[in-house]
Formats: sequence, structure tokens, C-alpha cells
Amino acid sequence: MRTIIVTGGSGFIGSNFLQRFVLRQADVHFINVDKLTYAGNPMSLSAIENSENYSFEQVDICDSEAVTAVFQRYDPDCILHFAAESHVDRSIHAPRDFFTTNVGGTLNLLECCRAHWQGDSENFFHHVSTDEVYGSLPEDGYFTEATPYDPSSPYSASKASSDHLVRAYHRTYGLAIKLTNCSNNYGPYQFPEKLIPLMILNAVEGLPLPVYGNGKNVRDWLYVTDHCDAIWRIIQQGRVGETYNVGGDCEKTNIDVVRAICDGVATATDQEPSSLRDLIRFVPDRPGHDFRYAIDASKVQKELGWKPTESFESGLKKTVQWYLSNVDWIAKVRSGEYREWLKSNYEERNEG
Ligand code: NAD
Ligand code: DAU
Repeated sequence: MRTIIVTGGSGFIGSNFLQRFVLRQADVHFINVDKLTYAGNPMSLSAIENSENYSFEQVDICDSEAVTAVFQRYDPDCILHFAAESHVDRSIHAPRDFFTTNVGGTLNLLECCRAHWQGDSENFFHHVSTDEVYGSLPEDGYFTEATPYDPSSPYSASKASSDHLVRAYHRTYGLAIKLTNCSNNYGPYQFPEKLIPLMILNAVEGLPLPVYGNGKNVRDWLYVTDHCDAIWRIIQQGRVGETYNVGGDCEKTNIDVVRAICDGVATATDQEPSSLRDLIRFVPDRPGHDFRYAIDASKVQKELGWKPTESFESGLKKTVQWYLSNVDWIAKVRSGEYREWLKSNYEERNEG
């Protein structure tokens, strides 16, 4: 493996992945292809932006001419596809962008792979997907790689569509592919619209902590670098054509997560935990809210020896500390000015 195109490398998981592997794998050239939507942040990559084995291309994956040019310029051996619209609540309010990027963008990348690689099976497309494609679990049971798809939100429906497309390209055109379906990630550099960073920042600022419904919905939490390590292992040793479920074996109700955040922030800022727990508000439920996710990750564990290294307690402590210490990053991702800058920067670059 010499050249990997990483789509969405300026987002939450992509930036954690690049920070980790650009420094560790000097023999690999990583090309970050990212449009820089509101969720993509160049600051997340400041530690590696000048590395010799790292390049950045501000490109929309839906733009076939621009993506073709990137393929021609770098001649990649592997595409690691993170880029997506990723937030369920946004997909409920504005579903179209999710289908444009998550389905149309994936299709465009697959077409470029087909045209560029012309059946060379040494190269492959690694598609990063979600456990949400499987729908909702009752109180018991786990998602395995054989669980039928049953997506509930426009986001998960768009990810399910993209998964089907990736498998269809394998069956129809023989394109070499790998897929991962992962549970909820948390950690540094996550945009503060997702549950954990939103609650940390609201707690720090003394703002209400909105818990959807009764707070009993369950998610299976995985520290982001554990997900990145699983992906790297699968890129190196995973079997072509296979799907691997990745999860933390760490089920928590949302209310327990929010209470743990209150306690973590209180300890770190020398406050009474009860004063932060008093900020919790039960608000109307998310439409189509999946009750429970839980991953059976035994395939990746048995075949490739991967397992999570971070416990929820240690991972949450690190995450709280990171959000308390990185006020510049937080101010920038939240500022309208910064979003305007990104927009004009993108338009300028594309006109120029
Ligand atoms: P994110 O929203 O933080 O980042 C998405 C990145 O993709 C951003 O940098 C954004 O600028 C870029 N992007 C969006 N549209 C683009 C386009 N049209 N062209 C080029 N770049 C574009 O997302 P994330 O949480 O890092 O998730 C990454 C991937 O992992 C997604 O495919 C998501 O479905 C999947 N996933 C996420 C989680 C999770 O808990 N966050 C869990 C399982 C799977
Ligand atoms: O399971 C993997 C998925 O996890 C990824 O594919 C998605 O990209 C990622 O966003 C995440 O989806 P969720 O919908 O599970 O994550 P979110 O952080 O939005 O919500 C987690 C849970 O917390 C969910 O049950 C809804 C609830 N919630 C969320 C927010 C933002 C609240 O109760 N209050 C909130 O304000």
C-alpha cells in the first residue's frame, strides 16, 4: 500500500484517523479529499498539515470532474471513504443533502474507481458505514453482519443505500471492496451537535441539557481512535468483499451518558455534580428514534484480533478534558464567521 485517498479527512473520525496514521506510516501517502462543509475543519489537522506524506484537496465528492482529476494526479491504491453528511437530526430537517452526498457522492467515487482501476484487484474501496443501517433493537440481541437492513432515518437510509451500492459494484463489476459498520463514536474533534460534545459544552456553560424522550434509548459507545485502529487493521488484513461490524461492547442509556458527563465536567471544573444534573431537561423525542443499538464485533475480534482499548470512563475523561482545553477549536467551529470563511474560501478556490 502506497497511496490512500481519505475522503472526509477533515471531519471527526477522518481527522482522528489522519492524525494517527500520517505520523505512524511514513511510507504511505495520505490524500485528504474534503469539501469542508460545516463539519470539516482544517484546524483539526494542524498537527500533520505540513507532513511530507500528507496532501489536501478541497473537493466535493459529488464533482466527478474534480474527483477524476484527483485520481489521475495521485493514482491511489485505496480509497478510504469517510465523507458523508452524518447527523441524524439534520437529516430529519433537510434530507436532500444526505442523498446527494452519501449516495450520489459514493456512486461518483465508485465510478471513478471502476474507470481508473479497470479491474485491478490489488486496489480497493473501503466504505465506512454505520450500525444505524440495521434499524432498532429491542431490549436484547445484537447486530451481526447478517442482520437485515431496516433503516429508520433519512441519514441511515442514505447510508444503507450507499452500502448496497458498494456491494453491488463488487458483485457486478468485481470492484474490490471492504465495509465497516460501526457504533457511536466519541472523542476529540467531534462537531458539537452530537450528544457527547453538545452536553459537555452546555454543561460547562450552564445551559439546559436536552435529553430526547425518556432518555432510555441505548447506544453502544466506542472511543474514536479504537474505531480508527479497527479500520487500519481491516485495510491491512481484512478480506476483500467482506463486511466487519465494529463496536465498543459498551451499551449505555442516554440519560446515564448525560449524568456521567455532568459528573465528569463537575469534577474537572470543581463544581457540585448535582448543580449540573439539575440542567437536564427531557424534551420531545426525535421522530423515528431508534431504541437500541448494540454491535456483535466478534468477527473483527476473532479474525483480526482487534478489540477496544479505551473504557467508557477513561475515554469520557479524556474527551471532557479535550473540550475544556480546546476553546479556540470550539469557538471556530461554532462561529458563523468561520462558516462564512469556509464557504467563501471554497467558492474562491473553485472559481480560481
Ligand atoms: P463528520 O460529519 O464529522 O465529518 C464528515 C466529513 O465529510 C467533513 O469533513 C465534511 O466536510 C466531509 N464532507 C461532507 N460532504 C462532503 C462532500 N460532498 N465532499 C467531500 N467531503 C464532504 O462525520 P464523522 O462523524 O467523522 O463520520 C465519518 C463517517 O463515519 C461517515 O460516513 C459516517 O456515516 C460514519 N460513521 C460515523 C459514526 C459516528 O459516530 N460519528 C459512527 C459510525 C459510522
Ligand atoms: O450509531 C452510529 C451513528 O451514531 C453514526 O452513524 C452517526 O453519524 C452519529 O451521528 C451517531 O448517531 P446518533 O443519532 O446515535 O448520535 P447523536 O449524538 O445524534 O445522538 C445520540 C443519542 O442521544 C440518540 O439516542 C439521540 C440522543 N440525543 C441526541 C442529541 C443531539 C439526545 O437525547 N439529545 C440531544 O441533544
